[in-house]
Amino acid sequence: MGGTGCLHLVNGTLHVEGVSLDQLATRFGTPLYVYSRALLKERYEAFTSSFAGAPDSLACYAVKANSTLAVLGVLARLGAGFDIVSGGELKRVLMAGGDPSRVVFSGVGKRSEEIAAALDAGILCFNVESEPELDRIAAIAAARGQTAPVSVRVNPDVDAKSHPYISTGLRENKFGVDMDAARALYHRAASLPSLRVCGIDCHIGSQITSLSPFTDALARVLELVDELAAVGIALEHIDVGGGLGVSYNGETPPAPQAYAAAIISGIGKRKLRILTEPGRAIVAEAGVLLTRVEYLKHNGDRGFAIVDAGMNDLLRPALYSAWMGIEAVRPRAGPTACWDIVGPVCESADFLGKQRELALEAGDLLAVRTAGAYAFAMSSGYNSRCRAAEVMIDGENAFLVRERESLEDLVRGERMLPVDA
Ligand code: LLP
Repeated sequence: MGGTGCLHLVNGTLHVEGVSLDQLATRFGTPLYVYSRALLKERYEAFTSSFAGAPDSLACYAVKANSTLAVLGVLARLGAGFDIVSGGELKRVLMAGGDPSRVVFSGVGKRSEEIAAALDAGILCFNVESEPELDRIAAIAAARGQTAPVSVRVNPDVDAKSHPYISTGLRENKFGVDMDAARALYHRAASLPSLRVCGIDCHIGSQITSLSPFTDALARVLELVDELAAVGIALEHIDVGGGLGVSYNGETPPAPQAYAAAIISGIGKRKLRILTEPGRAIVAEAGVLLTRVEYLKHNGDRGFAIVDAGMNDLLRPALYSAWMGIEAVRPRAGPTACWDIVGPVCESADFLGKQRELALEAGDLLAVRTAGAYAFAMSSGYNSRCRAAEVMIDGENAFLVRERESLEDLVRGERMLPVDA
């Protein structure tokens, strides 16, 4: 069973804060993403307060995990920084009231217009992932008479021991540059007048459930920090990336406090501001996906509960074989059976969970737990399905923060060929 998350039973019905999921389904329809503002705040503050012992630190929430404006807005009001990977994410952060001077820009493929927009906004730092990118940032900044703040993203060749699709710190991954290349890049950056070398960056993967990959990577990055300091390249900050896991199915990731303590002690007496890029650890547990059982069917002795949310709404099970907790919104007293919880999409990978023991009837509501991170953000319109609505709960109040997509939305911007073509 996963972490406690934001769900609790009141009078036999699952609630998020003071609102019953039953009522939400009636009011807003399904599939529906539901977030708890209180839990979002709690997880953010648990994370940031664990770095209180460091002289200076900033949590830059990884926008990709959940980029819904209302989520970003809650975090912006709490003073969060943001880690972005596109001009689109920058736009969202600014719209949500985020402070651009707390934004770091990661990603291997920054386009020229995205770099220019980030310079316009006045972001804290570009996390540079290659030599041609460094040169492009330098040229764009020079042409605009600006100085671009840069860090080099180091690939420390450390195994995050996570799913291969979400491990990024190995040499075989496209991310960052190896230690030798990083050293050369720092010398190059220091020689370019339109760049200001301000930090160093590293991110080794996601859903990491032990401390050693973090501390191993940190030790390697610090070796380079010391080496650079010795040749007069003094860095202001170290960005240790994101990656802290959560509990989906009994995993026991380090608590934020243990994670922070390990990083603070690794850095020791070095005068470095600590930046982090947490995504999942902030939002995963604050969200659930609410879905309704459309049909029950059997193929031989295999039971299928066909629900109205599919892989287009929640891709993690299909893409990473991820296990997500699934519970009945009004648990039935009757005998349970074993069900594959599958969506309506025409793919065998379209499942939310397999072989789950539940007492189910058609029409029942199910809640997929721990669905605040990499869930709505990875949704699509595959099979021409409208993307789900999203609701933020604040105490007794439910705010619709994203309308359900309409059929008109699905075809917006498309054109038929002219009849005579
Ligand atoms: N910083 C960078 C540069 C990243 O690439 C990522 C995640 C993060 C921070 C945030 O990592 P977190 O704290 O959330 O682990 N879609 C996958 C996860 C992909 C993670 C991509 N990068 C999933 O659903 O498990």
